Amino acid sequence: MRALLTKIEQASGLDRFGDRLQRAVQGTLRGQRIRDLLHGVWLGHPLHPAMVQVPVGSWMSAAVLDLMPGQRRAATTLTAIGTVSVLPAAVAGLNDWAALSRDQRRVGLVHAVSNSVALVLYTGSVAARLSGRHQLGRTLGWLGLGAAGAGAYLGGHLAYKQGAQVNVSVSDLHLISDGWHSVAEMATLPQRQLVTRKVDDVSVILYRHGDDVTVMLERCPHQSGPLGEGEVTEIDGHACVVCPWHGSTFRLNGGEVVHGPSSNDQQTLPTRLVEGRVEARLP
Ligand code: FES
Repeated sequence: MRALLTKIEQASGLDRFGDRLQRAVQGTLRGQRIRDLLHGVWLGHPLHPAMVQVPVGSWMSAAVLDLMPGQRRAATTLTAIGTVSVLPAAVAGLNDWAALSRDQRRVGLVHAVSNSVALVLYTGSVAARLSGRHQLGRTLGWLGLGAAGAGAYLGGHLAYKQGAQVNVSVSDLHLISDGWHSVAEMATLPQRQLVTRKVDDVSVILYRHGDDVTVMLERCPHQSGPLGEGEVTEIDGHACVVCPWHGSTFRLNGGEVVHGPSSNDQQTLPTRLVEGRVEARLP
């Protein structure tokens, strides 16, 4: 399986179609609000993996009921619920997919194809059950569950091996030792400009506003973009930093994510001022 997954990650032949699909998704889901909604910015967590619980749970429950006598109606209802609920989950997944790196998009494409096969099989299963052909409906359902299982496996690979839509910067905290760290002389910090420094070996950005200083991890939680090279902008009265790679936007006061594709907040460090020096420590 590892060799197969590596081949998919490296399958550049998928890029032509993938690039076209990416443009189509970006052209269709243009509004920032709709993209943020689908990324799960409002939830502080990616929306797609939460939404897929409904079809996966419904289909698995239907598969169990199909093995029990007298459960045809319940199994048909659950199969139909799973089939309908896969559509909004797929839209959220496509929205995330369009902001992934190339190797991630290749695996994401095969993940989407597996789930599309599952959707076709389950649609056939619902149609067969409603027309009274329950044995055919059960068989199509079990085949669909196999395709959905393959899709879920690839989705797990995307998240756990390739780091798609997970917070990739939070592990930097493990590289910072306990205790307070001196990061800058307050007098040398310009007002309302980003400054990059190190805490141990970890890059952080500093932003001074009056006598307040924010210290925030520099690597973007989406895909490690350098926030120190990002622009500072004001949104709803809050100073925010915009990632130069894909535009994720975080409040400089607290790190809350304002716009995706990241749905994770950015980690800030507690600070204090000691004899004119800004110090920071682990939260
Ligand atoms: S790396 Fe993608 S938005 Fe920052």
